[in-house]
Amino acid sequence: ARKGKRRFGSAFGWSPPGADAGSFANPAYAALLERECGVLVPENELKWQALRPDAASFAFDRVDAMLDYAMRQGMAVRGHTLLWHRPKWMPAWAESHDFGSTPATEAERLLTTHIETVMRHCGPRIASWDVVNEAVDPETGGLIEIALSRAMGGAQQSIDLAFHTARAHAPAAELVYNDFMSWGAGSATHRTGVLRLLEGFRARGVPVDTLGIQSHLVTNGPDIAATVARQESDWRAFLDAVVAMGYRLIITELDVRDTGLAAPFAVRDPLVADYTRAYLDIMLGYPQLGDVLVWGMCDKYSWLDGFDPRDDGKPRRGCCYDPDFRATPMRAAIAAAF
Ligand code: XIL
Repeated sequence: ARKGKRRFGSAFGWSPPGADAGSFANPAYAALLERECGVLVPENELKWQALRPDAASFAFDRVDAMLDYAMRQGMAVRGHTLLWHRPKWMPAWAESHDFGSTPATEAERLLTTHIETVMRHCGPRIASWDVVNEAVDPETGGLIEIALSRAMGGAQQSIDLAFHTARAHAPAAELVYNDFMSWGAGSATHRTGVLRLLEGFRARGVPVDTLGIQSHLVTNGPDIAATVARQESDWRAFLDAVVAMGYRLIITELDVRDTGLAAPFAVRDPLVADYTRAYLDIMLGYPQLGDVLVWGMCDKYSWLDGFDPRDDGKPRRGCCYDPDFRATPMRAAIAAAF
């Protein structure tokens, strides 16, 4: 923020006051946010599953409390996400919705009403939106269908409509397509699929400003330099192609899965830091890169242990602060990279 272009930030959550959670209402966690962050993003509370108990209603209480907190602290907020394009992450009612005799019309109504209502409610308090999240199938590079998209005749329709609707309601906001294609060797098909989607947006005049690069990194061995050397040129080729189409970049969900590192914390922590540093050195070399957000500030509350536990059952070390709220070498690596 001091340099006028890049902010550091984090995901955060809602909880009852004082709960032991990665929430603004937990003073220990809030202290980390307030010390380190210029921008916050609700980890779950703006998703359909959280906001939409049914087809007719919206539940904004938690989001409102989170926005109030951020505004009080003078921190910006990103919106995640207006459409997570995966059946598993839509509410069950939306996946089994009866679209009636004019399914495309009904699906368009549902989607545009959702986006309008959420954007109107949040208004200028949110200036950057992950409009569509994870629509590309990493296995095939094709688009993933959800019930809404099928009713409209295909995912291209629902994705394009989401961006057009978002632009109509927030002409000045940054509109982001967000996905987890990575610099990992196994991600080549995913990267190709995302490039195809981004090319299509430009060809069809779909208003997308920025590619959100989630950046859930995975370390697969102790030789960080060799891993980086193997991955760097393909990753740069991908980023070059994205910025050549006129897109900006942001890092939306940085954390590190120390999967391949079978060692004590004293060994794992510096390797995680080195891997983060090498990644950020590449990313921050792009003048098109804006904000850098991590997906949680503290290992104690990170989603990683639940989502992908280590084989040896040990806690993961993928955040800037360890479970005792002590800064990890990763924090120093991020600070140095900025
Ligand atoms: C995750 C949250 O961290 C979890 O609490 C929740 O159970 C599932 O979603 N990519 C995304 C995020 O875009 O929304 C995901 O967040 C992590 C992966």
